[in-house]
Amino acid sequence: MALFYQHNINQRTRLAIWRIEEPESFFLQQVPLKRDVTHPYKRLQHLAGRFLLRELFADFPLAEIEVADTKKPFLPNEKYHFSISHSGNFAAAIVSSESRVGIDIELVTPRIERIAHKFLCAEEKAFLAPWELFDKIRTELTTMIWSSKEAIFKWYGEGQVDFKNHMQLAGTVRYASNEWMTLPYCFLKTGDQSLQLQARLFDPLVLSYVVT
Ligand SMILES: CC(C)(COP(=O)(O)OP(=O)(O)OC[C@H]1O[C@@H](n2cnc3c(N)ncnc32)[C@H](O)[C@@H]1OP(=O)(O)O)[C@@H](O)C(=O)NCCC(=O)NCCS
Repeated sequence: MALFYQHNINQRTRLAIWRIEEPESFFLQQVPLKRDVTHPYKRLQHLAGRFLLRELFADFPLAEIEVADTKKPFLPNEKYHFSISHSGNFAAAIVSSESRVGIDIELVTPRIERIAHKFLCAEEKAFLAPWELFDKIRTELTTMIWSSKEAIFKWYGEGQVDFKNHMQLAGTVRYASNEWMTLPYCFLKTGDQSLQLQARLFDPLVLSYVVT
């Protein structure tokens, strides 16, 4: 068993992170592999994500998962809403019987700085500015913003979202290490919707999720 972290948000909504230490055969005992994932490591990540769904809710009907044209996985009867993410040897999942959800997990690496200009809006650059001289914290927070936007992308599920213009930080954030942080976001793709992203740094990764 390699459950790294579990958070029961309430009775109906739970999330967890799994540290992948098992061979493929371990996950295949429970998870039907319905899609041809050719790369062995990606297949292991894929299987671990699905496996985690049933760790969270034992009656999760894995065999009923379908994948939309946008690549969003879903259950046709919506018994549960769910979202999955992987990064390195970690997989994360969130499952809810009542709310729409999105999750993302990212290993923190300075490489994020190279693409930051593609997804940071003016408000986010202003939020990061005081951390200019603190490389580690700046990289963590930049990764957190990226991860939050990936979580919103998955929560939305319809694709075609502009990361800089459709998702924007809109309010103050209190920095905290090893505690949940709330990031107030505006989702502008379909009007002007307020979203409260929850994010947390777990060395060496960042986890973000949204529940509505
Ligand atoms: C789909 C996407 C969010 C996946 O993120 P990633 O970091 O590559 O991978 P993750 O491991 O976090 O997530 C993969 C999981 O997301 C889920 N997923 C894939 N597409 C999805 C979608 N459209 N909606 C919701 N969930 C989706 C799947 O469960 C997938 O895992 P699985 O195939 O094993 O089931 C990402 O590839 C993407 O397309 N991002 C948007 C691209 C973009 O516009 N970028 C602009 C940058 S400026």
